[in-house]
Amino acid sequence: MRYAGMRYAGMGHAGNEPTRRAAVLGLAGAALAAATRAVPAQADFALELLPSLRSRAQASGIKYGCAGAAPIVQQDPILQEKIAAEANIFIPEGHLKWEFTEPRPNEFDFAGPDSIVDFAARHDMIMHGHTLVWYAAIPDWVARLMTAADARRALERHIGTVVSRYRGKVWAWDVVNEPIEPKDSLDNGYRNSIWQRLLGIDHVDLAFRLARAADPATPLCLNEYGFEYTTATSQSRRADILALLQKLRDRNTPIDCFGLQSHLDCHRTFDRKELTAFLRSVVGLGYGLMITELDVNDAEIPGNEATRDAAVARHAAEYLDIVLSVARPRSVSTWGLSDRSTWMRQYFKRADGKPLRPLPLDANLDRKPLWSVLAKYI
Ligand code: XIL
Repeated sequence: MRYAGMRYAGMGHAGNEPTRRAAVLGLAGAALAAATRAVPAQADFALELLPSLRSRAQASGIKYGCAGAAPIVQQDPILQEKIAAEANIFIPEGHLKWEFTEPRPNEFDFAGPDSIVDFAARHDMIMHGHTLVWYAAIPDWVARLMTAADARRALERHIGTVVSRYRGKVWAWDVVNEPIEPKDSLDNGYRNSIWQRLLGIDHVDLAFRLARAADPATPLCLNEYGFEYTTATSQSRRADILALLQKLRDRNTPIDCFGLQSHLDCHRTFDRKELTAFLRSVVGLGYGLMITELDVNDAEIPGNEATRDAAVARHAAEYLDIVLSVARPRSVSTWGLSDRSTWMRQYFKRADGKPLRPLPLDANLDRKPLWSVLAKYI
């Protein structure tokens, strides 16, 4: 499957991706739903009657979150209402990324995240802050920073401003996103980001200290992907992530949680033993766990929709079983709620041309077997 090479292809630094994407997916999704809505089978009615994922949080202690477009650009109010009905946590899929929040130096735009905070407050939800320091979704002026002093100043202003603004309104912050990329061939598997080039790996420590100074109470996370499987890539990522987390502990960097993105590949095999050992080590270092971006890529799974949905659900169940056997995550979040609106349909294609089905609800907003798996574990 194509993965790292095309991961953010086409996203560039330009900037209106979530806006355009929400518009396209919202309208296309609504038309699709109207055209294809079928009467659900008996079993589906039973599934629809079960209590929402969000209602389980009180008993389980695990909140359910989901990513979505900001309400000011969302063209699909029915999907938005479903998100409010199912989730305790709302994650901006794009609108807290640097290219939106500070598109020009010291010119901030908070319209998108503010609309999420308002929406969340109206629906008794809370926003998960995604994300402050990432190699992607940066505006051109950040990509062109030249010196360590400039990079440091940019991080100080950006993190200080954004984190202070949302103090008390955020469930957790993904302070640093994806600092590891062994394919970049730097020492220790560090990603060759603008921050790494100008500040070295100290940029991670700096980012967390700035976030902690601006918000002493909210959990701060380092968020990563690609460590679940028996592949050589997963294996080196596990080693590199753990070494970084160890180093940050040794420096007393104020990090509370490790965010497991959990973009799963349905056709791969979990390394149950090594993944368990990895997560035990992470927890042993004193980090809490959060599952932050769960979805299951079924690009390589043959068969009809029912077969694929069953495989996706089995894969997620195996994963959640492994994670929960080590520790209970503070939250489990999926990267979107419905197959109608998922980044995966844009970034990954099946050979048969059919759209991917990676999320808990189908394109008609009906619950799928993956929803039942979440309901079992949350
Ligand atoms: C993705 C969004 O879903 C897309 O709409 C956008 O084009 C690219 O970014 N890991 C992350 C997220 O941490 O920020 C990414 O979100 C998906 C992978």
